[in-house]
Amino acid sequence: MIQHPLPSYLDKDNIGPYEIYLEQVERVTPYLGRLAYWAETLKRPKRILVVDVPIHLDDGSVAHFEGYRVQHNTSRGPGKGGVRYHQDVNLSEVMALAAWMTIKNAAVNLPYGGAKGGIRVDPRTLSQGELERLTRRYTTEIGFLIGPEKDIPAPDVNTNPQVMAWMMDTYSMNLGRTATGVVTGKPVSLGGSLGRGDATGRGVFVTGAEALTRVGLSLEGARVAIQGFGNVGSAAARIFFDNGAKIVAIQDISGTFYSEAGIDPYKALEHLAAHGTLQGLAGAEEIQKSEFWGVDCEVLIPAALERQITEANAGQIRARIVVEGANGPTTPAADDILRENGVTVVPDVLANAGGVTVSYFEWVQDFSSYFWTEDEINARLDRIMREAFASLWDVAQNHKVTLRTAAYIVACTRVLEARALRGLYP
Ligand SMILES: NC(=O)c1ccc[n+]([C@@H]2O[C@H](COP(=O)([O-])OP(=O)(O)OC[C@H]3O[C@@H](n4cnc5c(N)ncnc54)[C@H](O)[C@@H]3O)[C@@H](O)[C@H]2O)c1
Repeated sequence: MIQHPLPSYLDKDNIGPYEIYLEQVERVTPYLGRLAYWAETLKRPKRILVVDVPIHLDDGSVAHFEGYRVQHNTSRGPGKGGVRYHQDVNLSEVMALAAWMTIKNAAVNLPYGGAKGGIRVDPRTLSQGELERLTRRYTTEIGFLIGPEKDIPAPDVNTNPQVMAWMMDTYSMNLGRTATGVVTGKPVSLGGSLGRGDATGRGVFVTGAEALTRVGLSLEGARVAIQGFGNVGSAAARIFFDNGAKIVAIQDISGTFYSEAGIDPYKALEHLAAHGTLQGLAGAEEIQKSEFWGVDCEVLIPAALERQITEANAGQIRARIVVEGANGPTTPAADDILRENGVTVVPDVLANAGGVTVSYFEWVQDFSSYFWTEDEINARLDRIMREAFASLWDVAQNHKVTLRTAAYIVACTRVLEARALRGLYP
């Protein structure tokens, strides 16, 4: 249970996803030595902005949506983190996602703090015109907070390069000049980076493959089960498949699909593009949603939303390795069960850091207006992910802790060292 006094804007009986983060910070505090003096800094987001986003709907009425931008910490550099469009977005969730960005950027040693944004909306209910108006108004409302040197949004659940293009254009129109560096994950023709689309899935693959090697398993023929078949899940599926692994199960919003012989992710993507659902996917049988967690496999990749692996299902997991493509998919209690059962968890703050790493490359390329080849980008990404994995693995071995705790030790130390060196203003 959370020990420290909560900020007044959190409900102590229902803290929401931020509770997971607070518990993770409490677990790491004993390892922070003299820096523990500053630990409260990690628990308090630096800034929270809640905005009203009113738009005209196509039927002529006006609709209001809740928008958020949270800058959790900027001790190590400008805020960085995605924007989520989802009907369940709330303050606690955006706070947690912003905090995990602080940890992730520090764990991989990118020169950023942590931030996140979101709008409480189901974008499937909006037309393209409504989505554009929503995005432009939201960008204007948070406009004074973001900027290439202040806070740089990116895509997250249900946002994509087109949404980033509208954000960049809106910010630029308000500024009076084009500022490509205000968001990352843009289309390549607008200052986006090659390799960004697959970057998160690629990082999931690189860290998953490293973990397989460390536990003595082969990538060739490894069975992989994936929850979420969007940007992260589908890219991870393709890259694991391309490297000889077998995708035995895919779960998304449309159902759970299983094949002992393996699902071809390229065919699944074609099916999804043609039908808008995985229902009816040839060669795969549909199984119960709850059966997904007990699927026989070596690698399990949650790549949908947070709080999916809980006390209720962690004990069913048969995988040797869980690679967290999603942010916050595992609750602390589930983490303990997995550790006791000998399951190696590659934590979100490492496993899905490929996206923000290539976002960092995009930002650097935009500043210099000099663009790299896809091979250069992938090679640099792979190196950063491998090195981060190796150093966290060593910390985990030395302290006899999980990879998650190791990631938090390294990240919190970096963040608090910066805090201590900068001191408090005034
Ligand atoms: N896109 C990135 O670069 C990036 C980077 C780091 C972390 N992440 C995290 O990865 C996760 C997925 O992000 P994304 O960009 O792939 O989103 P996305 O919108 O492209 O895909 C989400 C997928 O999850 C599925 N899904 C949604 N609700 C589900 C449910 N209840 N059960 C099963 N499946 C469900 C959807 O059907 C879809 O396939 C999120 O946690 C996000 O924060 C994304």
